[in-house]
Amino acid sequence: MSKIPIILDGDPGHDDAMAWVLANASDKLDIRGITSCCGNSTIEKTTYNALRVCALIGLKVPVAKGGKRPLLAEPMNAPSVHGESGLDGPELPEPVFDIEDLDAPSLIAKLVEESEEPITLVPTGPLTNIATFLLTYPELKHKIKHISMMGGGVQFGNWTPAAEFNILVDPEAADIVFKSGIPITMAGLDVTEQALIFPEDFERIRALGNPVAIIVAEWLEFFYEFHRTIGYAGAPVHDAVAVANLIMPDLMESRDLYVQVETTGDFCKGATIADFNNKYEKEPNAKVLMGIDREGFVDLMVDMIRTYGEVAK
Ligand code: RIB
Ligand code: CA
Repeated sequence: MSKIPIILDGDPGHDDAMAWVLANASDKLDIRGITSCCGNSTIEKTTYNALRVCALIGLKVPVAKGGKRPLLAEPMNAPSVHGESGLDGPELPEPVFDIEDLDAPSLIAKLVEESEEPITLVPTGPLTNIATFLLTYPELKHKIKHISMMGGGVQFGNWTPAAEFNILVDPEAADIVFKSGIPITMAGLDVTEQALIFPEDFERIRALGNPVAIIVAEWLEFFYEFHRTIGYAGAPVHDAVAVANLIMPDLMESRDLYVQVETTGDFCKGATIADFNNKYEKEPNAKVLMGIDREGFVDLMVDMIRTYGEVAK
């Protein structure tokens, strides 16, 4: 079975970091590059965090920095969830390599152009880089096979009653992506709020004992602290679902739906609206994940994190 070539794009961010830990451990995925975006924190901090996560997991691939702000919307961050650094909690190694001279959309274009096979994009933050890539390099769109993204929610939001954070930060970018015609798997809140890692699971991971396992357990503790105060029974590791979907799609339940992004409005800006009753009679533009085998998801996380303690074969 040949590996799926992917580009990771995110705003690490605890759950982005855990998604990248998962992706890097899987023998089904071939990480060609990483691009940072602003969202959980400023672009400076998310880029620094991206390099530190790479140092932690021993991942050496081109990393490029995204823009300082969304396409049109005013920048917004989430220090309440991820801390001032954007990845608070355990001490992390310093970067062991520098970012590319290219900006994020240009690196995506370079990697896509160089690839012999179509690439899967795995965005787990606001979609600014992805939209900018599609607008700037329309001639390369045919070489994007699939977008497996974390964002949105067809039943509820988390940053407003209607909108999920990644979409709300840059709704215009999300609108461009959902209108692109590229096959999308949307790991929205509908599924990611079910992808809870419970405190007892933190201990399963910590007990693996390797350095990555120890850090992930501490990330989970930090990430869970905010969510515990608002009533969660576990840490919703949103972004890791977009990666797990590529490694083990059978864990997921989904519906093919026509999804539109609200880019204006006082109450619903950033909402991802699914046409459940086919009112517009449009072909679905997204596979919307609606359910997950939570225990299977946690087992996958544990099995992948265990490999960081195994001697390279
Ligand atoms: O709403 C959850 C999303 O917002 C996740 O990607 C998390 O990292 C934050 O970016
Ligand atoms: Ca994220």
